[in-house]
Amino acid sequence: MPKRVRTAVFPVAGLGTRFLPATKAMPKEMLTVVDRPLIQYAVDEAREAGIEHFVFVTGRNKGVIEDHFDRQYELEHTLEIRGKTEALSELQKDLPSAGQTSFTRQQEPLGLGHAVWCARELVGEQPFALLLPDMVFRAKPGVLKQMMAAYEEMGGNIVGVEEVDPKDVSSYGIVARGGGPDSGFRITGMVEKPEPADAPSNLFISGRYILQPEIFALLSEQTRGAGGEIQLTDAMQVLIRTQDFTGVKYDGRVFDCGSKLGFLTANVVFALDRPDLGPDFRKALGQLGLLDGAEARNSEPA
Ligand code: UTP
Repeated sequence: MPKRVRTAVFPVAGLGTRFLPATKAMPKEMLTVVDRPLIQYAVDEAREAGIEHFVFVTGRNKGVIEDHFDRQYELEHTLEIRGKTEALSELQKDLPSAGQTSFTRQQEPLGLGHAVWCARELVGEQPFALLLPDMVFRAKPGVLKQMMAAYEEMGGNIVGVEEVDPKDVSSYGIVARGGGPDSGFRITGMVEKPEPADAPSNLFISGRYILQPEIFALLSEQTRGAGGEIQLTDAMQVLIRTQDFTGVKYDGRVFDCGSKLGFLTANVVFALDRPDLGPDFRKALGQLGLLDGAEARNSEPA
């Protein structure tokens, strides 16, 4: 039985340059898909997978994220006296319990690998989950929960993957697939941003990992890779020589909310999915002539 995964790391220290000026004074992870910040989706997914300790690696403007996961007594009191009980209970259920959150600081945005390394003292000598909050998933059960099932069977390191159009592989970390089913197959290699001709598959690493603590020693060597940043994939490529890596081609789909196109698409899809919003939103889009025939028909009130 592999050691239980209790801790999740959320790197939230990037500059979010693709979203300037929105991210000038606010972390990218506080941008909202419909009415929930990106970071809230990742925390909910981790909680659903059984995580009990939430470690945030923050940078500039960290206060907002810390405040988001704190109680706001004044606000709660006002909601209570105004009888807004639904909003109040929504707020309360989103919060991790007291003592379940930890914050550390990445003083300089030196890359994802460096951000993960900054969490080493808080994680300690135990396996941990890593969630990139700008990757938001439409998946049931959540992607980390699906990966946890593979971890319980196989142990080692687990990486969530999804198919990408082969011509786009050069934007992602790509895995080489060995034997085994979609729910847990052997990864035989990884490469960061390959040319399409050199890519070992079209399965890309979409921002969810379960990693063994030996990754920290490799990250501490801190060699800079692609883009002058300390890359997580480079450290994983070394770790795979001595430890097992299992890929999970999960049931679901990712939206890269670090890009404007992914973010806007996620907002539309998640809004259409929402029972309280979807029917009216579909109708509004239909009235603007923005839906095709089939979608527009769905917009007719039932
Ligand atoms: P990205 O590369 O998508 O984020 O990192 P970025 O650098 O903020 O975005 P752009 O490219 O400038 O628009 C993926 C995740 O890793 C975190 C980011 O906050 C994001 O959640 N990250 C990245 C760090 O915490 N530190 C870093 O040095 C880099």
